Formats: sequence, C-alpha cells, structure tokens
Amino acid sequence: CGIVAYIGNKNAKSILLQGLEKLEYRGYDSSGIFVVDEHKNGHLFKEKGRIADLKKIIETDTFCTSGIGHTRWATHGRPSVKNAHPHQDSENRFTIVHNGVIENFQELKDTYLADISLTSDTDTEIIVQLISYFVKKEQTNTFEAFKKTISKLKGSYALALIDSNQPDIIYAAKNKSPLLIGKGESFSAVCSDAMAMVQETNQFIELMDGELVTLTRDEIKIETQDGTVIHRTPYTAEINLGDLDLGTYPYYMAKEIDEQPAVLRKIIQAYQNEQGQFELDKTIISSIENSDRIYIVACGTSYNAGWVGKQLLETIAHIPTEVHLASEFGYNMPILTKKPFFIFLSQSGETADSRQVLVKINAMGFPSLTLTNVAGSTLSREADFTLLLHAGPEIAVASTKAYTAQITVLTALSETIARENGVAGDGNMAHELGIVATGMERILSEKTAIEQLATDFLSTSRNAFYIGRGIDYYVVMEAALKLKEVSYVQTEGFAAGELKHGTIALIEENTPVIAIITNKATAGHTRGNVQEVSARGAHTLVIAMEGLEQQNDQIVLPEVHPLLTPLVSVVPTQLLAYYTSLHRGNDVDKPRNLAKSVTVE
Ligand code: G6P
Repeated sequence: CGIVAYIGNKNAKSILLQGLEKLEYRGYDSSGIFVVDEHKNGHLFKEKGRIADLKKIIETDTFCTSGIGHTRWATHGRPSVKNAHPHQDSENRFTIVHNGVIENFQELKDTYLADISLTSDTDTEIIVQLISYFVKKEQTNTFEAFKKTISKLKGSYALALIDSNQPDIIYAAKNKSPLLIGKGESFSAVCSDAMAMVQETNQFIELMDGELVTLTRDEIKIETQDGTVIHRTPYTAEINLGDLDLGTYPYYMAKEIDEQPAVLRKIIQAYQNEQGQFELDKTIISSIENSDRIYIVACGTSYNAGWVGKQLLETIAHIPTEVHLASEFGYNMPILTKKPFFIFLSQSGETADSRQVLVKINAMGFPSLTLTNVAGSTLSREADFTLLLHAGPEIAVASTKAYTAQITVLTALSETIARENGVAGDGNMAHELGIVATGMERILSEKTAIEQLATDFLSTSRNAFYIGRGIDYYVVMEAALKLKEVSYVQTEGFAAGELKHGTIALIEENTPVIAIITNKATAGHTRGNVQEVSARGAHTLVIAMEGLEQQNDQIVLPEVHPLLTPLVSVVPTQLLAYYTSLHRGNDVDKPRNLAKSVTVE
C-alpha cells in the first residue's frame, strides 16, 4: 500500500491524488482520500479500483489545504469501498491511513473494543478506534492517545492521522513499513516514497522505526516513544521527473524493456575505472574477502537474478554462494558458515520479506550489501553497503530492467573480487557487457517477429512451460514468472531434464513449451527434451544462441560471453510476456492482484 499526507496552503485534493498516482505501483485495488476544508469540515472519498476511479467521485467544489490519502493492496478484507482507506472511528473524529499489517488486531479488539461494532474487515480500523477509545477513556489529547495506541501495536505500520478537531495538524508514525517526511515552503507532507511528493519538494527526512511525528504547515517534530526529540536534517531526493514519463510508449513495461541496453552502458560507466576494468568500493570487497560464503537473499524477480548471481560469483570470483527466498530464510534459517556475507537484491529496497532477514542478520552482527535501484531505501540504509543499479525508476509491476541491471552489477562485483583475490576471472567483463548491450539491441530490433510468435504460441493457451539447463534454467524461472504475472497463462520454468520425471504428464496437444539453449555442453540434452515433449504433442519454440542454432529454431540470440547469456536470452521472454498480455487485453503495467513493492510479510 502507499500513503500520502499534505498540510499547507495549496489544493490538498490534487496534491494527494497526484501523489497517489505515483504510489499506485504499491497497490491498486482501492483508494481514498480524506480532506479538511477551510470551515474545518472533513470530506471522505473512497472507491474500489484505480486512482482514476477515485478521481471520478471527488467533488471539486470545496478548497482543502490538508488531508491524507491511501492506495491499497489488500491484506485484511477484500478490495471494496468499506475496506478502502482512510478509516474512521465511530464518531468520525479521527481519520487514518495505514500501510502494514497489525498482527495483534484481534487481541486489541477483544481487550479494548469489545463493545464497538466495526464497519470494515480491516486491521486498520482497530487503530483508529483505539485512538478514539484512549482519548475518551483517559481524557487525554490526540498525540498521547496516538502514542499509547502505537505502543500496543504488534506488526508493521506506516500511519498518518488527522483529528477533525485540529485539522492543522497531521500525526504520523512508522514501524517496519517505509515512511518519509517531505518539507517545503509553508507545507509539510508524509509519503511512502519520495516519488509521491517530488513534484512539490525534493527535501525529505527519513523516519526510523518507533518514531512519531507531529506536522503542521511550518513545523515538523519527530520524537521517540520515550519523548526524546530527534533533530534530523533533510536530504535532497535526486529523482528526475522526466524519467517518470511514458513518452510515446503505450506501457512502461515496453519502455523499460527497451531501456535495457542503455542501463547496461550506464552501469559499465558507473563502476569502471580508468583502465576500463570494473572497480568497486574497496571496503565492500575486503568485507567479502573476509567471509567464507555469500548468501543472496531476495524475492520474486530479484530472487531469480540471484541464481544467475550465484553462477557469476562462483565461476568468476570462486566464492561459494547460496541463494535464498527471503520469506523462507528468515524463519527457517539454514546452518550458516562461520563468516557469512549477505547480499540483498531488491529493486525497490523496501520489500518487507527481505527486510525482516536483514534485521535478523544485523542483530547477529553479519555484514551485508544491498543491490537496489532506490538510493536511500530502507534496505539500503540498513545494510552495511549499497551498490546502486542505476536503472532509473522502474514503474511497470513486472520487473525487466532491474533484473538485467542486477545481473550486470553482480558481474561487476564478481570481477572486482576476482581481481582483488588474484583469481584469474573470466576476461574483461566490462568489455563483454558492452557486447551484450549491442546484442540486446539486435533482439529489440526483432520485436515484430517476437510479437508474431506470442500470437502463434501463447494467444489462447491456458498453460505453458519454459525449459532450460544450467544458466538457462535460471533464466526460464524468470521467463515463466514474467509470462504468468502479466498474461495470467499458468507457466512453469523447469530444469529441462526434470520435466520427464513427472510434469511431462501435463503436456497435451499444443501445450506451448519454450526452450532456451545457450550452453554448448547441454544443448544436445535439451534438444532431446524438446523432442520428448514434441512427440507428446507440445507446440515447441526454441530460443538458441548463435553457433548452437538449428534450422527450425524460432529465435536466434547473438553470441555473448557464456556467463552473460541470461542478459540476452531473457529479452525475448520479456517481449513474449509483454505481447501476450497486450493481446489478451490485460493491464500490462498493473496486473491483477499484484503490487510492485510489497511492504508486508
Ligand atoms: C513484488 C513485485 C515483483 C518483485 C518482488 C521483489 O512481488 O511484484 O516484481 O520482483 O516484489 O521486489 P524487490 O523490489 O525486492 O526487488
């Protein structure tokens, strides 16, 4: 979910809506705003669906200068108007927006609010009812009641609260979920991500877990639960508004796929020394040198990039590397080596599953590095080291350029470690990545043919399989995720040799099976697997690397360094996913049920 709040002299409705549009990537099943007009009357607007739907119901006749807003990714309660935020107490005095999950909401309800009938199915309503309860029961002021309520909450939250009796104040607090304070000339703001307010200001203050904030137009007061006042200087957010433009593209996914060669070149430039070799911060390299194993922790597409990272780190830098799903690792930790080094891969730097692992390993005292696209993000702040992806904002929910950027930065890291460790490495990877960028451009110039393949193979199928071996297996996991998340075609990525041990039972007449073949040593075996499924009626599509191609292969990839093949082989699979989604009439950039940045566990 994404939250935003504003208090100033401008039109709060339009500022909040603009902010919510920028935060829509965090969830888009319902949204709402609460604004207070000059006569101190509150106005609540909530709607199911997108921000565009919310806009339609907002009355423009009153001018309001303060308010709070929310765009939702449902956790407790189905997407509906009643479950949309903001939520209010029974007397409609207090109004709140919340990002996160309150784990003890039932207990709080039973202990304090047994007599209150709730109007929504959300955990959030408990918070606002509890504030009202403490104000009445303890005859206390709003801030004290807010503070007391927060001390009772277990779980994650980023909150913004308005008391209709004092509409010139906004209260905010956070624990685990991200929250920033925006500071401008005669206004203050709160947002989940700087992008939401960067049109108004580039000055932001980070909040730490457990802190509470009181905001007026001119003043920001941050304090901790024990009343210690915190003074923190704002930082300047470097977001280029032009990067957020769609330009002539119909969807961000198409734009972001196209941007990949430029992103690769940008990364090469950012991490190259004068001799044209990769060279990274020495403290990162020596910390890795002092470790005996790397643990990569990530979710979704970043997790898939992690597997390619393992191959790079082990082959180029000779460091044993494990890859783990963040949601599993934190609660089922394997036996760690004596000197582990953690790498967190996260486009957004905000994924709650990854963050809970970072919190745990920080407490254990182990060193960590975050590879992220967002400077100043939570995972970046809380890890010992950060390497930026330099991919520019990724807006489409389905990640494309962040995947290739992560692999590219991991290549730079592997090569730098290899050189520092006196390991032979695998050639000049900066140079090899330049060849990859050109290769990507060639594939991107063949879009029309790939669009046709999407029509021929995937336009009506209910399910599909991707197969590959070794490094191609890692890519087919990502290819399958991409296709399923945007087209809703049920797709699995399989180790080509494993399909016959069970899953081949699912192959029927015309089931699409797409094979990626970039590795000479296993090409023959994978070809054999293609034959096996073909003999059982599958409709097969082969994506093969130059030198390994055969006459009927539908997509031929330009030849690149054997460890960098994922960077080219993934591109046609991204395009297949994009065109399949487009042809099926889906919202390519905002597939159903998903959010780009999932800030709940
Ligand atoms: C969400 C997105 C995925 C993404 C994953 C991890 O589920 O929908 O596309 O791969 O989060 O995100 P991160 O920002 O940590 O890379």
